Amino acid sequence: MRCSLFVCLIVGAVFNYGAGVDPSNFKTCEQSSFCRRSRKVQSSGSKYALIRGTLNTYTDSVTADLINKENHHQFTLKLEALVGSTFRLQIDEKQPLRPRYRVEHALKGKPETTRIRVEESDELTITVGKSKAVIHGDPFRIDFYEDDVHVVSVNAKNWLYFEHLRQKAQAPAEQAEGGDQAHQQQDQQDNSDMVQPASEPIDDPGAWEENFKSHHDSKPYGPEAVALDFSFPAAEMLFGIPEHADAFQLKSTSGTEPYRLYNLDVFEYIVDSKMALYGSVPVLYAHGPQRTAGVYWQNSAESWVDIYTTESNVVSSLVNFVSGSRKSTPPLAHFISESGIVDAFIMLGPKPMDVFKQYAALTGTHELPQLFALAYHQSRWNYNDERDVTSVSAKFDEYNMPMDTMWLDIEYTDGKRYFTWDKFKFPEPLTMIKNLTELGRHLVVIIDPHIKRDNAYFFHQDCTENGYYVKTREGNDYEGWCWPGSASYPDFFNPVVRDYYASQYSLSKFKTVSKDVMIWNDMNEPSVFNGPEVTAPKDLVHYGNWEHRDVHNLYGHMHLMGTFAGLKQRDPQQRPFILTRAHFAGSQRYAAIWTGDNFADWAHLQHSIKMCLTEAVAGFSFCGADIGGFFGNPDNELLERWYQTAAFLPFFRAHAHIDTKRREPWLFPERTRHVIKNALLKRYSYLPLWYTSFYELEQTGAPVIRPLLAHYPVDKEAFAIDNQLLVQQRLLVRPVMQQGVSKVDVYFPAIDDKKNGDYWYDADTYQRQERVGYESIPVTDDKIPVFQRGGSIVPKKERQRRSSTLMLNDPYTLVICLDRQGKAAGTLFIDDEKSYAYRTGESIYVSYEFANNQLTNRFIGKPHFKSDAWIERIVIAGLGYAPIDATITANGITQKLEIEQRSNGAIVVRKPAVKMNVDFALKLNAA
Ligand SMILES: *[C@@H]1O[C@H](CO)[C@@H](O)[C@H](O)[C@H]1NC(C)=O
Repeated sequence: MRCSLFVCLIVGAVFNYGAGVDPSNFKTCEQSSFCRRSRKVQSSGSKYALIRGTLNTYTDSVTADLINKENHHQFTLKLEALVGSTFRLQIDEKQPLRPRYRVEHALKGKPETTRIRVEESDELTITVGKSKAVIHGDPFRIDFYEDDVHVVSVNAKNWLYFEHLRQKAQAPAEQAEGGDQAHQQQDQQDNSDMVQPASEPIDDPGAWEENFKSHHDSKPYGPEAVALDFSFPAAEMLFGIPEHADAFQLKSTSGTEPYRLYNLDVFEYIVDSKMALYGSVPVLYAHGPQRTAGVYWQNSAESWVDIYTTESNVVSSLVNFVSGSRKSTPPLAHFISESGIVDAFIMLGPKPMDVFKQYAALTGTHELPQLFALAYHQSRWNYNDERDVTSVSAKFDEYNMPMDTMWLDIEYTDGKRYFTWDKFKFPEPLTMIKNLTELGRHLVVIIDPHIKRDNAYFFHQDCTENGYYVKTREGNDYEGWCWPGSASYPDFFNPVVRDYYASQYSLSKFKTVSKDVMIWNDMNEPSVFNGPEVTAPKDLVHYGNWEHRDVHNLYGHMHLMGTFAGLKQRDPQQRPFILTRAHFAGSQRYAAIWTGDNFADWAHLQHSIKMCLTEAVAGFSFCGADIGGFFGNPDNELLERWYQTAAFLPFFRAHAHIDTKRREPWLFPERTRHVIKNALLKRYSYLPLWYTSFYELEQTGAPVIRPLLAHYPVDKEAFAIDNQLLVQQRLLVRPVMQQGVSKVDVYFPAIDDKKNGDYWYDADTYQRQERVGYESIPVTDDKIPVFQRGGSIVPKKERQRRSSTLMLNDPYTLVICLDRQGKAAGTLFIDDEKSYAYRTGESIYVSYEFANNQLTNRFIGKPHFKSDAWIERIVIAGLGYAPIDATITANGITQKLEIEQRSNGAIVVRKPAVKMNVDFALKLNAA
């Protein structure tokens, strides 16, 4: 929450600026009735069994009934085989009192199923290619195998816990209470013809109603939690389930709080914490040297995840060695959700990149962004008026620093009424926007989901008249408190409301922007300053009569669907850019994310990488953190290092709280300006790599930034490393993220268990690292330790411009770093950087290969796009000899090219001058 003192008082707590979050404003598992209840099963276990004779076999799935042997309540189970070594397990009540919520809109479409083979003996074995699921009847359990290796078990611990819906025992005292009666009568009527099985009461005091601080949750439907354990016999560590300000590798939660997934606006969040943050992506990965698997727990209610791992450290391996015991128990995850059903996707890998792609096949990817969205964004809360915007933009030019996009936070609006402008500060928004676009720049404006309850505001009028707001239990429009004061929240779950919302973005309605203005959706957890845990009460009612409890983590996602549709309708030719804070599985199809309201300190800088690595493997490659920290004032060194780090994260934006000092780069001393400028230029030089990486993300689901284990899965030393990242498999980045250091330890990973590794070339000096393990790399204030993998080719653009959109036709540099065999390869994607024309073939997608002293290109698909760009230089590192010149053959003409020497034996072939869509072969000539 970005909190003014006034608003904080309303929340009921006076925050001490800079003191960090007060954790007591947020629930612990023990303070949450369903978490407390579900976690109890960890000591007692449960007793579920398949009911004999209920098995049905279909071409792609099996179904069977399941019984809770203690209360005899029955469930149906469906296990479905999906294309790509993935199974889907669904468990629901056989005859629920009312339907239970099933998540919609998270998957990119209906997953494609595949044919199964079923063998029945004591167990039921379901085989699909190399994947196999073995269902055990009593106790119920499913073991999953890939290539006959046991990789995942479901319910191996018997922690399945499924609270069936039940009638509330009618105690006389409760009759008096508010809306309970009406709801229960309705339920009784709806189900009067159904015979309910015996149901024992749940003795937890919070089962039927619950209080937290001053907030009451009425719980009209009572206890309805679902929980299940997953264990991973072939794994050594777990990662995933963003968003938490914590390490990449998940930590054991034994004896502490579970990781929480509940979209919340947490004020000044602390690091090294399992507390919930703005986004919830319930996908978890389990990794070991031979196998990687994953589980996507599709549930949009509040969830908690307990993790049990024997963390590999010196002490435990010593203990194991002494006691002679093997690794005791496999890593385990226990998912606990407040409502909904069990809907779990089990992804069997076998390699890390396979699982990431299997997850992308389910929930989709970000589409190729416009190039400007990958360039530098300049934001603050707030740029005050038109003059401020114009002068900040002009200053970037004055100081020769590239900048693509200016951002406007909430103060540009007329009193926080979205789709309007403050007419005094911004009398001529269209002229201001035109001024920016003429410089090749863009504008992004914020549009939040809270709607000011002002009878003179058209949006509020429309929503009130048409019943578009989220409702209270009593059926009234819910009123909360947010930036505009009293506010209501559109029910984006209603398709009619999404259509209405989308139509507001059309230029005939939102007349004061142009089609080049893009959108920032903030506060969409939703943030409600006076609500329980700063969000909406769980007993609010959404479209389809679902409780907010069921869908909370999807609210922001539905908001994004409306915005995305709006921008597509506004201009079908142009790829939308949206930034969101709240997110759920699948939101990556609509928006980029950032890590919210971080703090100007070194720990938050370090967490920007940890958090974005976790988000990237959970679908959100397009991730970044506020440069400089949202709260507080970074000193020169921290700001310099922050720019350097952010230059190698996909979303690259400076942003700051309204109470912070202005921190545009030219406000700092000359040396700091110089360092920041170099970081910006470095980012711009690598834009062709970022752009190609995003194209390949869209094509294959391969994350743009990756943890080391993605490509070095057998190297145990690399598993937990989260202060380094890979950009595809081409760059290894280890930014300086500590104060006052003159060297950093960079880990160069092993490709096998014999300590063989890749060559890595310093991206500035071409100095080669040949060894596996930690190397101490000296750094100056201006140094970003970036290494290019031997065997890769990286496309760059090295001419300096004021914005990326002006670089469209600039020439390319290819940087070729050779592997131990003297080879390298790499791809490049080119199109108009803006429209959807690439989807109908208006593009160039080319693979470069270097071998036997010769560089060749090969087009993937026809090179249809007309580009004026050409290759201006080719850098080759790792040759081991000095060629005298080179010959290039293109269009049937052969020419000689000059060669220049660079540091550390690298050479530069000058001016090949070949167009991007032309076949060529370039040969180096030895003396
Ligand atoms: C647009 O640019 C012109 C020329 O630099 C300037 O005079 C004018 O104030 C700008 N208008 C706005 C609204 O920013």
